[in-house]
Amino acid sequence: MIAGFGALNLDKIYIVDKIPGKDEEGYVIDLELHPGGSAANTIAGLADFGVETSFIGKIGSDEEGKLLLKDFLRRRVDTSGIVSAEGRSGVAMIFVDGEGNRAILVDPGVNDTISFDEVSKDVVERAEIVHMTSFICKNGLDSFRSQIEVSRIASGVSFDPGLPYVERGLEELKPILKNTTLLLPNRRELELLFGMDYREACIEAINMGVEIVAVKLGKEGCYVTDGKNEHHVKAFSASPVDTTGAGDAFNAGFLYAWQKKKEIVDCARTGNFVAGKLIERVGARSYDGIDPENIPQL
Ligand SMILES: Nc1ncnc2c1ncn2[C@@H]1O[C@H](COP(=O)(O)OP(=O)(O)OP(=O)(O)O)[C@@H](O)[C@H]1O
Ligand SMILES: [Mg+2]
Repeated sequence: MIAGFGALNLDKIYIVDKIPGKDEEGYVIDLELHPGGSAANTIAGLADFGVETSFIGKIGSDEEGKLLLKDFLRRRVDTSGIVSAEGRSGVAMIFVDGEGNRAILVDPGVNDTISFDEVSKDVVERAEIVHMTSFICKNGLDSFRSQIEVSRIASGVSFDPGLPYVERGLEELKPILKNTTLLLPNRRELELLFGMDYREACIEAINMGVEIVAVKLGKEGCYVTDGKNEHHVKAFSASPVDTTGAGDAFNAGFLYAWQKKKEIVDCARTGNFVAGKLIERVGARSYDGIDPENIPQL
């Protein structure tokens, strides 16, 4: 079983006539709701690929929380590790005008307040690997600290720190990194975190205790190493229409192949394949029909 541990957000995409400035007014033309959160998107993909999945997270006592749960239940993700609390669920309000300009307001809601007591030890124990992504940490450090604790007791840890955690700096992330099985950053994040070229940074990470590092390189594909072997793996050719969730889809593909005990180069190819397919569709969880068992030769 693969468990996710990260923020649960409902993306509310407001199509507006204009993005208002200070003291101005705009009008909403349409509203789309998309469940999101980085680890949550990856778990949704794994569930759609038939992997047994679970999630550790927190929702508020509101309609948004119900929608977030409903999407997981529809995909048969085990939700026993999702705590429901007084307060607001995480929401990202995304305003898009006719020219494609965007303004985003994030409400972390209850996401940041998951104490270690609230973490389901049953889910952690049952998980072969726990996939962790960043919390915004605007409403406290509880969830971040709980991830450190979980990294100590989990059988395996997969970690995509994203910019919010990279900005916390290397010292703060070391307690997680030393227990990390799979580190899944993009190039920019890894180079910022270690202050060096990504290939050298991979060696540093492995010296700290990480087993495998896969670095996402956008349309160039990815780079993967376990300290003994290294591979640059080219992306599949794609015609992107919506790159939201590309990194999360890569993680889903990589983890899918990893839990099938595939070689790192095959995990990397599967990550590239799933991400390349997902970006040709609208939405970060549009996995239906993508088959990670059926990857064409390049
Ligand atoms: N233009 C593209 N063509 C083909 N594949 C792509 C393209 N862009 C991204 N990918 C695939 O998606 C993967 C993840 O993309 P990227 O490197 O942008 O990750 P990221 O920066 O973590 O993304 P995110 O913003 O979603 O977190 C890449 O490793 C690659 O496999
Ligand atoms: Mg990313």
